[in-house]
Amino acid sequence: APRKDSPLYALLEQAAAYYRQQLRQHPKKARAVSYLKQRGLTGHIAKTYDIGMAPPGWDNLMAHLARDSTEVKALIEAGLVVENEDSGKRYDRFRDRIMFPIRDSRGRVIGFGGRVLGDDKPKYLNSPETPVFHKGQELYGLYEAKQQNRQLQDILVVEGYMDVIALAQHGVTNAVATLGTATSEDHLKRLFRLVHSVTFCFDGDKAGRQAAWRALNSALPVLEDGRHVRFLFLPDGQDPDSMVREEGQQAFEQRINQQAQPLTEYLFRHLSEEARPDSLEGKAHLAALALPLIDRVPGSLLRRLLRQSLAQITGMDLNQVASEAAQAPAAQQ
Ligand code: UTP
Ligand code: MN
Ligand code: MN
Ligand code: MN
Ligand code: MN
Repeated sequence: APRKDSPLYALLEQAAAYYRQQLRQHPKKARAVSYLKQRGLTGHIAKTYDIGMAPPGWDNLMAHLARDSTEVKALIEAGLVVENEDSGKRYDRFRDRIMFPIRDSRGRVIGFGGRVLGDDKPKYLNSPETPVFHKGQELYGLYEAKQQNRQLQDILVVEGYMDVIALAQHGVTNAVATLGTATSEDHLKRLFRLVHSVTFCFDGDKAGRQAAWRALNSALPVLEDGRHVRFLFLPDGQDPDSMVREEGQQAFEQRINQQAQPLTEYLFRHLSEEARPDSLEGKAHLAALALPLIDRVPGSLLRRLLRQSLAQITGMDLNQVASEAAQAPAAQQ
């Protein structure tokens, strides 16, 4: 763990201030400003999420923040400057991008995401792992969600920066995003320290559906009794950003309330698509797939209800299901 007073925090804060200032003052700010407007964002929400701009050019940030090579080294350690291994050349990591500061839950800047203004690749560039930035643990927007809500009830987990920000723009201020990585058990443990309900809402595409199933697997080991995990699947081609812009806050919230599936329902539905429990073979297949997953649930009441549900679906006796569970460690496939 980084020292509490790691000098990187101050440096990253200075970088955020610099990018913020560029969006307001740079001679070429117009393109970035109109890009953000075209994506439906107001100055108010840009301020809430402290959006900035990295100007075009190879060394703007370096020239602004580093006076000598010791300070350049600090920028490299912070992930803001890249050093080419062969040539030794040093240059700003983020150039000509919209900048999203990533804060830890206490509000300290720990890294950045940067989006190109057009269709260049890569679309998003993120800070690398640094002594203060660990992608598998941090959630984009969590600090801002806490700032905007006196009491968080439910947290919505989405894929991208723009999903979080567009939702907030439309009044849905409880969204967070994983940072281009899968949702981890650590992410969920962190969220369940704050709320008792987490809803996943990924993109309506193949990658989003795969991310949902992986998220279910990360969620199983943290499912204590009293915790809720739900999944909202969006229509093909939509993501939370496009969806909330199209239908607005009220319809989007109604969608969550009416269409989000509890994890347990999603689990059986998803496994049933593979096992097709309309024959004895299919029922055995379903039980073989479901039991190892059910066994990973720590909440003993929920685990019992899941077995009961499996018993009903397969027509097995509950005692049989329970004893199979006890003696079937490798029921995979
Ligand atoms: P998407 O490709 O769904 O991006 O990736 P998006 O947020 O919908 O993009 P736009 O701005 O609306 O066009 C979702 C998330 O995956 C990560 C980013 O965190 C992004 O927000 N990602 C995506 C990357 O890290 N790198 C990439 O090149 C693309
Ligand atoms: Mn850390
Ligand atoms: Mn996508
Ligand atoms: Mn998307
Ligand atoms: Mn999008």
